[in-house]
Amino acid sequence: MRKKVTKAIFPVAGLGTRFLPATKSVPKEIMTLVDRPLVQYAIDEARAAGIKEFIFVTSRGKSALEDYFDHSPILEQELRKKGKDDLLEILKDTYMDSGAIAYIRQHQALGLGHAVWCARRLIANEPFAVILPDDVIAAEKPCLQQMVEAYEETGGNMVAAMEVAPEKASSYGVLDVKEDMGKIVSVKGMVEKPAAGEAPSNLAVIGRYILSPSVMKNLNKMKKGAGGEIQLTDAIAQDIEKEQPVYGYRFKGQRFDCGSKSGFLQATVAFALAREDLRDDMMAFVNQVALNASAAE
Ligand code: UTP
Repeated sequence: MRKKVTKAIFPVAGLGTRFLPATKSVPKEIMTLVDRPLVQYAIDEARAAGIKEFIFVTSRGKSALEDYFDHSPILEQELRKKGKDDLLEILKDTYMDSGAIAYIRQHQALGLGHAVWCARRLIANEPFAVILPDDVIAAEKPCLQQMVEAYEETGGNMVAAMEVAPEKASSYGVLDVKEDMGKIVSVKGMVEKPAAGEAPSNLAVIGRYILSPSVMKNLNKMKKGAGGEIQLTDAIAQDIEKEQPVYGYRFKGQRFDCGSKSGFLQATVAFALAREDLRDDMMAFVNQVALNASAAE
């Protein structure tokens, strides 16, 4: 029987320089889409996929993350006194069972692969998921849940894959496809941030992975890749050489790159429009802005 995926790593040790000065004191993952921080969307998605152990790889200045998942007795007492049961209910999503969440420090930002490797002792010899909270995916069935269901059939390693325009490929890890089976593709290689015109396909890897423990072993080699960083894609690609299968999964849903300003703003508008309590106001505002812009042209 295939081992269930119950552990997830959330690498959140990056500096978030694209959002300076905000990220000088606020971790990128605490920035909010409407009223929930990015990290809450990531945790909800992991829970829906059956994850029971949540491992955060953090760095200096990220303590707001730890506080976010802690109980807040004074706030709760106040809300209870005022009979604000609806707000108390909302807070429930932010609580973690004791021992279900762990924080590990990445002392130097040496790359995503290195951040994942920092969690090796907690992963031991089990398959694990990796979720990048700055990739937010709006989907009827949460993306990682779709992947876990597919992984139950395939095993091996699985990465979320998305079609991108050729001129965008050099910002991503790109799949070299062996066989395209529709929803799932099998992969014969992966190239991190290919040079313009050298991408092996238009299928880019985005921030959801289900990986076998052998990827951790590959990361032990600490091999530097694109940008001088230890790349997760390279360690996954090394598994192919060891005859361990790697699959790309074309998920159903819309992905927002909330690590970029434009992606974050698009997600803010999309999530606000999807909310019943905000839709009418937002729609009127967005239409007005569009009208004004076209009148000005
Ligand atoms: P990014 O490339 O978005 O880097 O990392 P960043 O530092 O977060 O943001 P910018 O580019 O400076 O604005 C992708 C993911 O990998 C994590 C980040 O926290 C983010 O979730 N990461 C990256 C680490 O945890 N450690 C690293 O050394 C590098």
